[in-house]
Amino acid sequence: MTDDPPGSRRPRRLAPLRWSVATAAFQIEGARHADGRGRSIWDDFVEMPGAVLDGSTAEPGPDSWHRWREDIALAVELGVDRYRFSLSWVRVRPEHGRPANRAALDRYSRMVDALLDAGVAPFVTLYHWDLPSVLEEHGGWLDRRTPFAFAEYVQTVVDALGDRVADWYTINEPVSTTLQGYAIGELAPARTLLFGALPTAHHQLLAHGLAQQVIRSAGSGRVGIVNNHTAVRPASARDEDLAAAEVYDLLHNRLFADPVLRGEYPDLSMLGVPDLPVEDGDLALISRPSDFYGVNYYNPTRVGAAAPDSPIPFEILPIEGAPTTGFGWPIDPQGLRAVLGQLADRYGDALPPIVIGENGASFPEPDHSSHTIHDAERIDYLARHLDAVEAARNDGLDIAEFTVWSLLDNFEWADGFTQRFGLVHVDHNTSLRTPKASYSWFRDRIAASRAQHEAGAGA
Ligand code: FCB
Repeated sequence: MTDDPPGSRRPRRLAPLRWSVATAAFQIEGARHADGRGRSIWDDFVEMPGAVLDGSTAEPGPDSWHRWREDIALAVELGVDRYRFSLSWVRVRPEHGRPANRAALDRYSRMVDALLDAGVAPFVTLYHWDLPSVLEEHGGWLDRRTPFAFAEYVQTVVDALGDRVADWYTINEPVSTTLQGYAIGELAPARTLLFGALPTAHHQLLAHGLAQQVIRSAGSGRVGIVNNHTAVRPASARDEDLAAAEVYDLLHNRLFADPVLRGEYPDLSMLGVPDLPVEDGDLALISRPSDFYGVNYYNPTRVGAAAPDSPIPFEILPIEGAPTTGFGWPIDPQGLRAVLGQLADRYGDALPPIVIGENGASFPEPDHSSHTIHDAERIDYLARHLDAVEAARNDGLDIAEFTVWSLLDNFEWADGFTQRFGLVHVDHNTSLRTPKASYSWFRDRIAASRAQHEAGAGA
């Protein structure tokens, strides 16, 4: 208990920020045909002519399926508290309804042991977008059976690793899967259903609730979802722009946070869409308290009214004058602070400690490099976003952890190998890893923050 008045965000004494660095299975593992791996919607996507910007197939890339010890050594050397990585559902359960693949589980198990031996906590993402193709053939996340299939896979994982893994993200960025995967088709499974995609939001959230239940029943540690959030900026104060911004905020932010943190969906009636396929008990399950709330943040979004003949009721506009990343994403750390403040305002005491699950930036860098890349822009991006996190903590928000996306340059989904987010450069032909200047910067920043905390604790 604190003596603060209700609603106050007066600073409490917070534990020091924990540090982490992230990757995801399909983006780093390569070796798609090794060791009995099954097929996911990302295999289908990369084999679709023209779907991936540079025609690459995620291979060899970092080839972490084979070179994972190098990744762990890099994470250890950075001094992070945790390493966030995802498991490949189709490696663990190559064929739906058939027994798990022991070899894959053993490989992940060795990785968990190696991390623990080195003093880095494994932080496992259970789902980072690589749905088994066979489930997509039956409707994928449009189908209510998919969350239950996910829960079975989670049970397999927890049985194998739950004695040692204590931190779990359930679903990564369901908003990306719904909007980019099923509504407009920029990501797998490349469907273009527009608002017909909305049931996938509910089924992914149900999958989160079921996975959390599996982990709770096994007594296997801390669990939460990780949502992507953006600060929505109306293009102007005109009513049409304000209304469009409200719709976008609803779709990107509230649709995925309200059910988890409030136990209800926001009012979607303004979209004129059918009700979501919610059944009795679903929302109670989805809103069971989590141990943390994961936030991925990259950029704010400026939104204006759509042209009259547009099939969607908003338009995403560039932010004039804002510097941009290699992806063209506007750089604005105040957007992160705004997102964090908005979560606190909207959800109050229902908001558990926040974990920043991803933050980072891509910039144009050479494919081959025989020397350290001096990625000053990435350092600046990360430093300024960390300042925003510190400012939010000083406002009294409980932000427990900061994670850089990504440890390694990797396969950036539909953009293939063209976007480099790593602290470590990867030559995607040879898989050679070369730390960038940002790697040393992050290592020093972690060390300095730890030293400062220790000095404070000793005072
Ligand atoms: C996030 C994804 C992650 C990576 C970064 C750049 O939306 O979770 O896999 O692609 O964007």
